[in-house]
Amino acid sequence: MQLLDGKATARSIKDEIADEVQLMKKGGLREPHLVAVLVGHDGGSESYVAYKIKDCEEVGFKSSLIRYEDDVTEEELLKCVDRLNNDPEVDGFIVQLPLPKHISEEKVTLAIDPSKDVDGFHPQNVGQMAMGLPAFVSATPQGIMELIKRYDIETSGKHVVVLGRSNIVGRPMSILLSLKNNPGNATVTVCHSRTKNLKEICLQADILIAALGSPHFVTADMVKDGAVVIDVGTTRLPSDKTKSGFKLTGDVVFDDVSAKCSYITPVPGGVGPMTRASLLINTLKAAKSRM
Ligand code: GUN
Repeated sequence: MQLLDGKATARSIKDEIADEVQLMKKGGLREPHLVAVLVGHDGGSESYVAYKIKDCEEVGFKSSLIRYEDDVTEEELLKCVDRLNNDPEVDGFIVQLPLPKHISEEKVTLAIDPSKDVDGFHPQNVGQMAMGLPAFVSATPQGIMELIKRYDIETSGKHVVVLGRSNIVGRPMSILLSLKNNPGNATVTVCHSRTKNLKEICLQADILIAALGSPHFVTADMVKDGAVVIDVGTTRLPSDKTKSGFKLTGDVVFDDVSAKCSYITPVPGGVGPMTRASLLINTLKAAKSRM
């Protein structure tokens, strides 16, 4: 079994991006600028956004954080999106989800200029991605594709089973791997809460991608010998063993499953760092397209 080391791979990507930023600056260009919009004080969102800002600093990007309280109106938030769309100093921005219930995430996502949508959530980007056209691809699927590419994992003709059909992970992942590309050209099955014979389908997987957000869901009896296992789960379970008071927990029972498979991503240190690196890749791309 070989670990798919997302932490080390993300480190290499960040180094490559930092070098490019240095070259841009030497050439008289300004650094890429990412803006994060955070509504409220959800613990998970707070830490994800803090990481995004820290990542920008590490590679030499400019970053800004715009904060709103939970009671911000939809109108106010849409005005903020409009301002960012029209600000020539902003290359890309994200509105951290989830949003409070009185705000439509769909309306906010649709309001974002697709050329600044570095999350790749706008339907224009999703549609172009699905057609194999240039697009911003959402960070987690793009990070997984990059990991597969850098570890030279063969996907052509393989049976990929994706557990989960979310708009930001499962569905785009299934589309990307079925496209006529490299990585890609896979036969893909998407499983979800209504899937029957889940275990039998998982056992057919050459590559199993678990993106359910259901801790320890994938057990060793669901995995074929020699399969590649990618664990997207990052559930924060309470723990008295860590300083933060929680432990990031994957969808896969790592110790048992790792004994059977050819490659596996750890949690933490697998998909998570690749997701973070992908936002930087998208922001650099957005900045270059404006220069
Ligand atoms: N919430 C959980 N993941 C994400 C993400 O990738 N982008 C945004 N904007 N919100 C999220």
